[in-house]
Amino acid sequence: MIPESFIQELLSRTDIVDLIDSYLPLKKAGANYVACCPFHSEKTPSFSVSPGKQFYHCFGCGASGSAIGFLMEYSGIGFIDAVKDLAGRAGMRIPEDDARGVRDEAQSRRDAQNLRDITEAMARAAKYYYGQMKRSERAIAYLKARGVEGEVARKFGVGYAPDTWQNLDAEFENYADPVLQAAGLVIRNDQGQLYDRFRDRIIYPIFNQKGEVIAFGGRVIDAGEPKYLNSPETPLFEKGREVYGLPQARAALREKNTAIVVEGYMDVIALSQHGVENAVATLGTATTEAHVRKLLRQVDRVVFCFDGDNAGRKAAWKALENVLESLVEPKTVGFAFLPDPEDPDSFVRARGKDAFERLIAQATPLSEFLLRELSSREDISSAEGRAALVSKAGPLLKRLRSPLLRLQIVRRLGDASGFTAQEIERHCGLPPIAQASPARAPRRNYSVWNRLFRLLLQKPELAFRLPPEFFEDASEVSEALPAPPESGAVKSLCETIFAAKGDAVPSCAALLESARGTANEIFFSEAAAELIAVPFVEDDIETEFVGALERLSEARRKRDFEALQKKVARTGINGLSTEEKSEYLKLITRGKGSKES
Ligand code: UTP
Ligand code: MN
Repeated sequence: MIPESFIQELLSRTDIVDLIDSYLPLKKAGANYVACCPFHSEKTPSFSVSPGKQFYHCFGCGASGSAIGFLMEYSGIGFIDAVKDLAGRAGMRIPEDDARGVRDEAQSRRDAQNLRDITEAMARAAKYYYGQMKRSERAIAYLKARGVEGEVARKFGVGYAPDTWQNLDAEFENYADPVLQAAGLVIRNDQGQLYDRFRDRIIYPIFNQKGEVIAFGGRVIDAGEPKYLNSPETPLFEKGREVYGLPQARAALREKNTAIVVEGYMDVIALSQHGVENAVATLGTATTEAHVRKLLRQVDRVVFCFDGDNAGRKAAWKALENVLESLVEPKTVGFAFLPDPEDPDSFVRARGKDAFERLIAQATPLSEFLLRELSSREDISSAEGRAALVSKAGPLLKRLRSPLLRLQIVRRLGDASGFTAQEIERHCGLPPIAQASPARAPRRNYSVWNRLFRLLLQKPELAFRLPPEFFEDASEVSEALPAPPESGAVKSLCETIFAAKGDAVPSCAALLESARGTANEIFFSEAAAELIAVPFVEDDIETEFVGALERLSEARRKRDFEALQKKVARTGINGLSTEEKSEYLKLITRGKGSKES
């Protein structure tokens, strides 16, 4: 069996919208994407894909599932092959022990072995470079001059590659091992000579979420070109997906619920040195949607902190474009700009942690940055300029998934341009804000368990707020109260959420996969399909959740009361123990004030 943690990681690295879109073109419709269903023939689209839930559902034929389920149905392949396919796309390796039963077993064994070898070589090289740093006066002097102390150097594994051509020959038994070349550590030139990629450079290891070294950035010590030499893309390392400093930032990300995105390795390290631990960096590339999705899965707020120069503004704009589609309430994004020519490293060193954190706290909201940038590009004192402003905003607004934010921006765009909100929406071809749910959306009278189940599916972190006695209820209630089968599903859902490895809360799709092959499978996927059709409005979730808990504890009190009442009927009030008596009295008094009992 492939471990559940792997499936969860795989689904968290997969975007079902990208995946399905590569097979059948999807069209945006409100928060979801739609197409004509590939699983039954139809003329109007009733196949819907939810990016938030990473789940698809067809309102026509009822087909539904996660990215894995889609591949299985669409390509007619088995579970393991679907997982393999997705793992290949995500650059992940299936743990070798678990790849058994795969059709081309030999090949998959070789691939898995190769990935494992590369991972091991990278770990070993990282350790070697770190050891060399501690022995090199030159490297230590450099880090000292930049204000990096030993503890922080260790935390980030900062190393040094000495100034000879075949450093790694000293560390690895077989320098000619093709694994070293596949790892991007050793290069073979046209004459067949082998030499180290990294020589006389400060080495910054890049870790994946699991804390494995997947690449290195190597910085020249003195002036030289290129300033940074990075690992090539390897089976372990895909540039546009990874962020630097993630495992080091994890605890702080959770604590602050905010990620600060900076541009450079040194920025992350200097910030950490000064006590700002929730910063990560993109790796010399523009911020991609994959970066943003990865971060917004872990925190509710992302603040981009770029240099105050022109390049920094451009980078921020690019980030804005790539964040639009991942932004759903309650997630927010801000942009902090440093005074030119500072970068976060120089800023925090010169002015300290508090000044930096103030800058982050006062970040420009996305809406404001968007309007400011667009307005600065047009001459809004002229009618033409104001019209152009609205036209330029259109494509960006169309990609925005957050209806409230869109409305805010449209209103302010109205103030700036003199158009009404309606005119702007019509001109830009924006879909109506209150996207009516599809006509065939199921509307049912949900039990409180079902409601709670869907709340948890939409927002798994709520599980951590369930009171302990709730779990007694889930198992006990079935005896005293009419047995709702959903209570078992709720309980098993919570168990999966609690069992999730690492800090990430599993996505809706990952939770669904956990029920594959269990008695709850159908209930899970029906509930998810209903969530796609009629998701909870973000603002209602809290009230719904508290309400559901209240109803459950009310039901529990009622059950206890009835049990006591029965006993009183049998044995008289004196048949109750002292404890039961006071409980009974309490419940009677309570019952008077409550409509339920
Ligand atoms: P910076 O030049 O701002 O890097 O490039 P930095 O981290 O502040 O470097 P220091 O302070 O001079 O040591 C930002 C990021 O762009 C990538 C690196 O990831 C770097 O951290 N980059 C930059 C490269 O990959 N190659 C380069 O030649 C330069
Ligand atoms: Mn710098």
